[in-house]
Amino acid sequence: MASRAGKTRISSARDVTEILRPDASGIARGAALLRSGGLVGFATETVYGLGADASDDRAVAAIYEAKGRPGNNPLICHYATAADAFVDVAACAPAIRLAEAFWPGPLTMVLPRRADSRVCRRAGAGRDTLAVRVPAHPDAIALLQAVGRPLAAPSANRSGQVSPTTAAHVLADLEGRIDGLIDSGACPVGVESTVVDLCGTPRLLRPGGVTLEAIEAVIGKLQTAPVLHPDGVGLPSPGLLASHYAPATRVRLEAREVGPDEALLAFGAPLAGGGAVFNLSPEGDLAVAAANLFAGLHWLDHAARERGLTSIAVMGIPAHGLGLAIIDRLTRAAAPRKEGLLF
Ligand code: TXA
Ligand code: MG
Repeated sequence: MASRAGKTRISSARDVTEILRPDASGIARGAALLRSGGLVGFATETVYGLGADASDDRAVAAIYEAKGRPGNNPLICHYATAADAFVDVAACAPAIRLAEAFWPGPLTMVLPRRADSRVCRRAGAGRDTLAVRVPAHPDAIALLQAVGRPLAAPSANRSGQVSPTTAAHVLADLEGRIDGLIDSGACPVGVESTVVDLCGTPRLLRPGGVTLEAIEAVIGKLQTAPVLHPDGVGLPSPGLLASHYAPATRVRLEAREVGPDEALLAFGAPLAGGGAVFNLSPEGDLAVAAANLFAGLHWLDHAARERGLTSIAVMGIPAHGLGLAIIDRLTRAAAPRKEGLLF
């Protein structure tokens, strides 16, 4: 059991998760847990992250264990400032321009790792590259400053599950498997960061909280990787696997009608019917829809199981701006599940 004293010895059992407030003492306690090798969930502007000291190989190994994440899927390292991030990776000119434009914020850049990087090799899954980002959430920045080290942090969900945008989502997946959780309320952006590979020709690896249009306005056209890939062979980024964000209930896209035995994930004016309805944004606002997306999937999945509904029918979403990130997550939620390939 994790000790509640200021100086802590963390057992490997991690059977108690301390819920911390996002005030000075909660942040200090979270930082102490992290500095002694613990795992702490914390809010970013996108989704909750599951943090560990990125320089501590054992702590990073514990992230993979707690999530049930395959060791070949690298983690994003989080920093309080761009200058600190560029200590661990070599920044090219486009990376510097993107950092100026979008950090702090929901953009992750994959860059060549420096030979003297502080980040342990396991965090980057043994690759010569490292994904880095400066989050925009004040509690995340306060935590990073208090820890004084880079934090490796994937989304704070069990592998393959829907990402968490509230502390309750994190607890539902990871209670008793992590040492602490700073409850900062709901995450404002609601979809994960956009991941861009800048090691060669700039390439979009994952659409996210910064739109493709906004990035291209700063550094020009990006290559776009295939969004779906059934088995992970030859993928530039393991996170591109087809099946991810998987609710227990089957997901059906581009619904034009909905049956009484189905749940409905609506956008704009809702279809009539459905045994449970969650509207991402009645006004058809993509930023609102992104912020509500994972909470909607969590809620509908729960409602569907309680009410014996067979599937979640999803209305069409416009394919521009934040719509690209929403469609990407929903397409993965709808993809056929492949045993052993989820993370
Ligand atoms: O918004 C976010 O990015 C959240 C918050 C917590 O920061 N984090 C997050 O982490 O979504 P995660 O682990 O769920 O997704 C990270 C993605 C994965 O698709 C992973 O494969 C990819 O980034 N990635 C990480 N390092 C990489 C690398 N060196 N090369 C290519 N892809 C990488
Ligand atoms: Mg994730």
